[in-house]
Amino acid sequence: MIVSETSGLESLGGDNYLLTLSVPEGRFAALGRFARLRSWPMPSLGPGTLLDRPFSIHGIGRGTLSFLIRKVGPATALLAGLAKGDPVRVIGPLGTGLDDLDPAFGEKKWYLVAGGAGLGPMGSLMAALGDRARLFYGERSGKSQVGSGYLRGLSRDADGSGIVTTTEDGTGYGLKGLVTEPLLRGLGEEKRPIVACGPPGLLAAAARAALDHGVGYFACAEARMACGLGVCLSCTLPKLDGSNFRVCREGPMVDGLSLDWDRIRA
Ligand SMILES: Cc1cc2nc3c(=O)[nH]c(=O)nc-3n(C[C@H](O)[C@H](O)[C@H](O)COP(=O)(O)OP(=O)(O)OC[C@H]3O[C@@H](n4cnc5c(N)ncnc54)[C@H](O)[C@@H]3O)c2cc1C
Ligand code: FES
Repeated sequence: MIVSETSGLESLGGDNYLLTLSVPEGRFAALGRFARLRSWPMPSLGPGTLLDRPFSIHGIGRGTLSFLIRKVGPATALLAGLAKGDPVRVIGPLGTGLDDLDPAFGEKKWYLVAGGAGLGPMGSLMAALGDRARLFYGERSGKSQVGSGYLRGLSRDADGSGIVTTTEDGTGYGLKGLVTEPLLRGLGEEKRPIVACGPPGLLAAAARAALDHGVGYFACAEARMACGLGVCLSCTLPKLDGSNFRVCREGPMVDGLSLDWDRIRA
């Protein structure tokens, strides 16, 4: 645990913010891992706000860590309102990374699929994979989208051609429809394993796409966390073999074909 300093907060469009924190160099590894953050000291705004919150590590710089924060409630509103120099408590890195699940992760080509705030872990994955990554990023509508300039900057290609964006209602930049539509077209052209992060419906659809095309699939599982220590079981998700998976301890990255998506979505 460290108390770090805010070194920058950038509005990215919609309710999305890039929060950059100063950290000691060399302490962090990303690839799907997360950290628990809370503005420090945190004012008491009610019972739920006393807990810190999990966020995927979005980027690692020299002596900095960045997080993509989507403002959805009290804790994220506090983080999105920080000013340069403000302290933030950081616990991490935590969880299973993609390199734990697949030691050859960085050498393969992947389809990355992000729904909404599921863009969080994709910054560090795009940086690690370079032109071996193709990112599909979907939102419900244009007003939630991260700005196109920022998004293009995540791609190794100058024109951002490694990134496909969608909005369900067609009000934003990119294609109209579900993000799984261009993913399925991509799989039809070239089979690659998938990493997906986002709401359960998207993670379940990506599991079906992986099964149908016979490719591997890692999901970044999301669940509300309380203790963050593997004790309270509030973050468990059911697996097909009948066992339970604790997102905070065994996750968040998991073999997405091992989870019981029908029960998770029910
Ligand atoms: C491993 C992991 C990584 C995450 N990475 C990111 C990230 O990179 N960027 C980001 O913006 N958010 C991320 N989240 C979600 C983030 O932790 C929540 O949005 C945050 O806790 C909300 O806190 P709050 O007090 O602002 O809102 P709350 O009042 O706690 O919640 C506001 C609304 O968001 C919903 N919500 C809260 N947490 C979750 C969750 N885990 N899954 C689904 N719905 C939820 C609540 O049901 C409620 O409707 C991640 C969650 C997990 C478990
Ligand atoms: S948050 Fe308590 S077990 Fe995962």
